[in-house]
Amino acid sequence: MSAQQEVNALRLQYEKLLAEIRLHDRLYYGKNNPKISDFEYDCLKSEAERLAGILAGQSVEPLEMAIGDDRTSGFKAYPHPSPMMSLANTYSREEIFQFDGRTKALLGGQGFSYAIEPKIDGVAVNLIYERGKFSRALTRGNGSVGDDVSSSVGTIKNLPLRIESDAEIVEIRGEIYVDEQTFTTLNASREERGLEPFSNPRNLAAGTVKTLDPAEVAERNLKLIAYAVGHCPNCHLEFQSDAIEWLKNLGFPSQEKYWIADGVAEAWECVVELDRARREFSYWTDGAVLKVNELRFHGELGATARAPRWAIAYKFAPERAVTQLKNIILQVGRTGVVTPVAELEPVQLSGTIVSRATLHNADEIAKKDIRPWDFVVVEKAGEIIPAVISVERDRRRPDSRPFAFPSTCPHCGSKLIRLANEVAWRCQNSRCLPQVRRRIEHFVSRAAMDIDGLGTAIIEKLMTQKKLLCVADIYRLTFDDFAGLEKLGTKSALKILNNVKASKARPLWRLLHGLGIFGVGEQTAKVLANEFHTIGNLAGATADALEGLDGIGGKLSAEIISFFSEPSNGKIIEDLRALGVCTADEMRSSAGKKNLNFSGKNFALTGTLYAMTRQRAAEIIEGFGGHVLGAVSAKTHVLISGDGGGSKLAKAKLLGIEIWDERKFRENLA
Ligand code: IVH
Repeated sequence: MSAQQEVNALRLQYEKLLAEIRLHDRLYYGKNNPKISDFEYDCLKSEAERLAGILAGQSVEPLEMAIGDDRTSGFKAYPHPSPMMSLANTYSREEIFQFDGRTKALLGGQGFSYAIEPKIDGVAVNLIYERGKFSRALTRGNGSVGDDVSSSVGTIKNLPLRIESDAEIVEIRGEIYVDEQTFTTLNASREERGLEPFSNPRNLAAGTVKTLDPAEVAERNLKLIAYAVGHCPNCHLEFQSDAIEWLKNLGFPSQEKYWIADGVAEAWECVVELDRARREFSYWTDGAVLKVNELRFHGELGATARAPRWAIAYKFAPERAVTQLKNIILQVGRTGVVTPVAELEPVQLSGTIVSRATLHNADEIAKKDIRPWDFVVVEKAGEIIPAVISVERDRRRPDSRPFAFPSTCPHCGSKLIRLANEVAWRCQNSRCLPQVRRRIEHFVSRAAMDIDGLGTAIIEKLMTQKKLLCVADIYRLTFDDFAGLEKLGTKSALKILNNVKASKARPLWRLLHGLGIFGVGEQTAKVLANEFHTIGNLAGATADALEGLDGIGGKLSAEIISFFSEPSNGKIIEDLRALGVCTADEMRSSAGKKNLNFSGKNFALTGTLYAMTRQRAAEIIEGFGGHVLGAVSAKTHVLISGDGGGSKLAKAKLLGIEIWDERKFRENLA
């Protein structure tokens, strides 16, 4: 190969890598749905950096050191008073020592120490306080401008709404996360309902921060660790360690543990100790952050385009294990998507026994050439769902054959098809049993018709008895059908039957979401219900009427139209209506779900709420079955008093009415 040919080949390789990195950037920042682990992503980046180094001077596209952009539509964006940067990171001890060498050189012999902190695996947030009052929370966005996520961040129970400071603006930086317990419980209940689990806690946190319904956010139990101070005139903090203590004193939840070290050798010992200690922490820690402890040096050291020169993150490499792949099984989801899953010889990994790993899709299997009986490398980083990373080729059986992704559905035998621009293969037979089961599970799930007690095991039994073959059948089930099931007592049977009955009056958006129209999630279902009010109106809607509604484009409008033009779907909707399920919002007798803290009580609102508008608070109260009255009177049960309550507050005190501050209100939402 000539030198020029070699350069061309490298250039091609480099451009392919860039395209791959960009794709993963979009999945990670834009969709909160990464398909590879952080470690794999970092490997792609460092390989691209290596190639960029070799190709320097060859006029190739520069490797963007962008920090991504998490902004999404539906959120108001605001500028950060001071930019939010990313951190340089490394997996190598050597590079930590090189970082120390560079820092020493830049500081020209001035002595300094390090603060070593856990790196929390969550979503960065900028908390802005105006004259001591919490005014808003912003995501990092593109570093200069971030999305206003005050309403979800406002649900965090121990977020201080006031701090002792009269400065015009103070910025507190921190990480929002979901703890292990919440993540595990939430995923277990999603899996039980046939919903796709969240692949890792970071995605769950990032998705929740961008969820608009505060009641739903409250259920997800977001948490915060504040770890740095941004813009803060008159703070007079000398050290990063002072900043942590200052944050603690202001009432911010802060690091469980941090270390101060003299010199890099001691700092490294702290990193090793942190690696041992982190398993006991209540949050996921994917590394250590080394910061120059003397804040006066931060300005002097400055920053590169994306990261400060006074800090570096050392990331703990994810744990990996080698095991044998016994089989590749295919799961059919509710929309017919066929997902390959690896069944593994059980292996110990990051403290748990792993016996299954996702293989994502047919392309991934082909790309990595994963075959039954191969020895495979399985990785589990912060991610809870383990993934097959690679194959040990030299241990492959001689008679091994590439895995042939089937062309027909493994359950019903109908032909699998692949839609344009999609990686997934789908079974198109809407009567295929795993699909039907998952559709029913989705219909009854908390995010849709919310029928408590009708779990996977019961659904499966009723399907086997052929008493439950479509969602309309749910409303045909009798007491005897439930009571006849093994291990289900009379009390439970009655309870489920009551829950089924109660679900008939759910708001229209829940029914629309529950029907499982491809691409129609909760948000879109709400938009559709708001616009069309009845299922009949929606079924008759033209593409013109659908397109242009919030979040609905050409592809989605075609899905909606095709769903309603399918006679079997029309029949199910007709049956649901005949069985008494509310198919129009006006027919609804009681809204949403009940919450006894609100249901049947009279509320009044006063003062400024930080996490949401009073209008939104009123909607939530009414959604939970409470009433909102304009004035405080003897009939008022509770006054919710934000900041600066005024005359309503005085009157409520006089009348001895229960008063909730914003925190109490939020606590009662959960
Ligand atoms: S300090 C200039 N400290 O990790 C950046 N960041 O990968 C200052 N992170 O963007 C950030 N734990 O979202 C800092 N103890 C910690 C952290 C931390 C997690 C996040 C943060 C940052 C990202 C970089």
